[in-house]
Amino acid sequence: MTASSGLSARRDDSKGGEFPKTRMMIRSRSRSRRKKGCSSKAKLHEDRKYLPIYKYRADLLKAIEKFQVLIIVGETGSGKTTQIPQYLHEAGYTKRGKVGCTQPRRVAAMSVAARVSQEMGVKLGHEVGYAIRFEDCTSEKTVLKYMTDGMLLRELLAEPDLSSYSVLMVDEAHERTVSTDILFGLLKDIARFRKDINLIISSATLDAEKFSDFFDSAPIFRIPGSRYPVEIHYTKAPEANYLDAAIITVLQIHVKEPPGDILVFLTGQEEIEMAEETLNRRIRSLGSKVAELIICPVYANLPSEIQARIFEPTPQGARKVVLATNIAETSLTIDGIKYVIDPGFCKMKSYVPRTGMESLLVTPISKASANQRAGRSGRTGPGKCFRLYTAYTYHTELDANTPPEIQRTNLASVILSLKSLGIDDLLKFDFMDPPSSEALLKALELLFALGALNKHGELTKVGRQMAEFPLDPMLSKMIVASAKYKCSDEIISIAAMLSVGNSIFYHPKHKQIHADNARKNFHIGNVGDHIALMKVYNSWKETNYSTQWCSENYVQVRSMKRARDIREQLESRLERVGIELTSNSNDLEAIKKAITSGFFPHSARLQKDGSYRTVKSRNTQTAYIHPSSGLAEVRPRWVVYDQLVLTSKEYMRQVTELKPEWLLEIASHYYQKKDVEDLGPKKMPTWFSYK
Ligand code: CDP
Ligand code: MG
Repeated sequence: MTASSGLSARRDDSKGGEFPKTRMMIRSRSRSRRKKGCSSKAKLHEDRKYLPIYKYRADLLKAIEKFQVLIIVGETGSGKTTQIPQYLHEAGYTKRGKVGCTQPRRVAAMSVAARVSQEMGVKLGHEVGYAIRFEDCTSEKTVLKYMTDGMLLRELLAEPDLSSYSVLMVDEAHERTVSTDILFGLLKDIARFRKDINLIISSATLDAEKFSDFFDSAPIFRIPGSRYPVEIHYTKAPEANYLDAAIITVLQIHVKEPPGDILVFLTGQEEIEMAEETLNRRIRSLGSKVAELIICPVYANLPSEIQARIFEPTPQGARKVVLATNIAETSLTIDGIKYVIDPGFCKMKSYVPRTGMESLLVTPISKASANQRAGRSGRTGPGKCFRLYTAYTYHTELDANTPPEIQRTNLASVILSLKSLGIDDLLKFDFMDPPSSEALLKALELLFALGALNKHGELTKVGRQMAEFPLDPMLSKMIVASAKYKCSDEIISIAAMLSVGNSIFYHPKHKQIHADNARKNFHIGNVGDHIALMKVYNSWKETNYSTQWCSENYVQVRSMKRARDIREQLESRLERVGIELTSNSNDLEAIKKAITSGFFPHSARLQKDGSYRTVKSRNTQTAYIHPSSGLAEVRPRWVVYDQLVLTSKEYMRQVTELKPEWLLEIASHYYQKKDVEDLGPKKMPTWFSYK
């Protein structure tokens, strides 16, 4: 075993009598599903009674009736997310309006809605639905609506008093995402003037006093947990490579430990895919000596058909290993987990207002996270947690809690939403934990530079148009500006492709050269990454959205379909803000100018040493073109970029060449002549190749 010394958590014996029932339920549920679910609906209905929350159903409903705002705390898996909205429905709340339940993560919103629709025996999207950015799976019939917290924030723009809702449940409140934090302030206000609305703030952490304090001493309803003992193992010495250590630990558990599924916490999709590949290889090399190991990846962008697999019961004799991001910490509960492997890291966003640099870095988790992770193994029986770090690290190096996202993110998008809700004085906004004034100021500065706010800090017409798009303000500005350059058609394709993320192209290991060549085709003429994305989209469209075209060009069809969906929505929003759809695909300069109109704060100039420096003099920053960019070798003298990400270096992703005079033409209020004075080719080293 990689991990050694043991330390047992205490067992909560008071609920001992309930355990056998829970176990019985798990077994019979597996059986009924295997029988191809003849009475699976009835079974699911019956199963609901064995969840820890069920005993408190009546008390809970009484408390909700009595108190307008209620804080509910209960361990992960107790049934908060799936049951409370159903209880409210059964108690008649949905006659007065919808019951909305927010989730910080898309995958959780989708999978929970799917589960609840099964339990209620209705079609997903009918009585039970979900809404996530760019995907609305609800209908007029929908009474239970699961959604991301960001979606509810957007709904508030259209319906400031949320009059179509009777209850709102802000779930997973402990995650403290920016959207959840902003919702706290807004919902608290709504509850003051809408006495007929109920608010439920639910959380998996025991530290609920803070929520209660914020909501004017709202009462706390605690659902007693029924957790089995969890044996915690630490490594004796720090692990040099936690991914390797995690894989070895999985194999050791698989070979040596009694039946029970494994949950491994990794930091992101790439890492999960790497682990999946390595595990598959090692298992194959062990041959038929070992039992079957079913590998289930779980991360944010996982397609829904694969998502469903994680919840399928493990067949007899096999073992399941779930490779998950933080999402499995509290958002999703997977039954049957007996072993948890915790390398102690997660990907965390951070933001430096001074430089405007956002980064997503692998960071040590907090003690609170470590405890949540360990708890995942003791839900349906005694469990074991293997921490791939030392006891010393746990006790002395991990922070107690993760700081809320609002204190480590760029606030421009949130502030634009607040401004369009008419909240002008942000310093007076009721934040649970206020962001730094530097971050607030920086966001206001950016919105002013983009023309979304006037010099009094009021929303402009451009700002109102921008707020209609569920996108980062720079992307929204690019779209709004495209009207001027008569290329809105091209620009919304680019915006849609950028919104899909970095999953457009794929690189199978054995066909890398072919994949690279296919990709280079779109970059002919060094058009830059934005226009290359547009070409990919247009070429796909020309083949009538052909799947075969995608595979021939090493383009992921799933990502393209998503881009098409997003594009459709952007198109309808264009109409709403009164911008005509016009195409100007041959005028690349016009398209680049529209891009620059949104992204001029992200411009950079080539330096003598081959690096770039961001142009704005006060907070200039060194960066490099990401190797995946079509311009990585070309290195134009002036560029605009979509994102600056810090991985091994500061990289600019999605880069387009610009002419420095455009900066003065487009953003004369932001750049001065001296900012864009060209160094001229003479001062550059001779080994550079210019276009
Ligand atoms: O919200 P909380 O963590 O308290 O629990 P929940 O998400 O309501 O989960 C209650 C039960 O439903 C758990 O035992 C899960 O295994 C099950 N569930 C499921 O089978 N599939 C889902 N997509 C969600 C929950
Ligand atoms: Mg939950």
